[in-house]
Amino acid sequence: MNTMKIGTTINNRHYVLDTRTNQTLLDLLRDELGLPGTKRGCEIGECGACTVILNGQAVNACLVLAPQIDGQEILTVEGLAEGETLHPLQEAFLDHDAVHCGFCTPGMLMSAKELLDEKPHPTEEEIRLSISGNLCRCTGYVQIVEAIDAASAIAKT
Ligand code: FES
Ligand code: FES
Repeated sequence: MNTMKIGTTINNRHYVLDTRTNQTLLDLLRDELGLPGTKRGCEIGECGACTVILNGQAVNACLVLAPQIDGQEILTVEGLAEGETLHPLQEAFLDHDAVHCGFCTPGMLMSAKELLDEKPHPTEEEIRLSISGNLCRCTGYVQIVEAIDAASAIAKT
């Protein structure tokens, strides 16, 4: 089994890890670092359930190999809240009933965060585009789009 030592920052915490060279970032987060908020769906880059932010860009963690995050910075859904204070997106998802089964929610939140970080006041079309890689089997997307729109009014840039 080939392994590689990496140094990485995840949710503002620095880690030095021995990773398997064929291990995905998704498996590393969920199985080894105790961060199960990032969901395991299709594992082929189709559903968006595993979306995390890598150096400011939303990526599918199932398509990133763990050695690729050496020296990089990752944000997962566990890093969104500040202590007991939810991120405005999380508050808005609750307020707008945008969470049903919740399986897609972490990925939706991370895609939306990337959007609002880059564009604090997006159009509805831009919101829809930003979550176009995130599948939801429950909500019909209307509440999710409304929630992101509401959060855009108060989200930090
Ligand atoms: S689990 Fe990664 S895109 Fe579906
Ligand atoms: S809330 Fe169930 S998949 Fe989106």
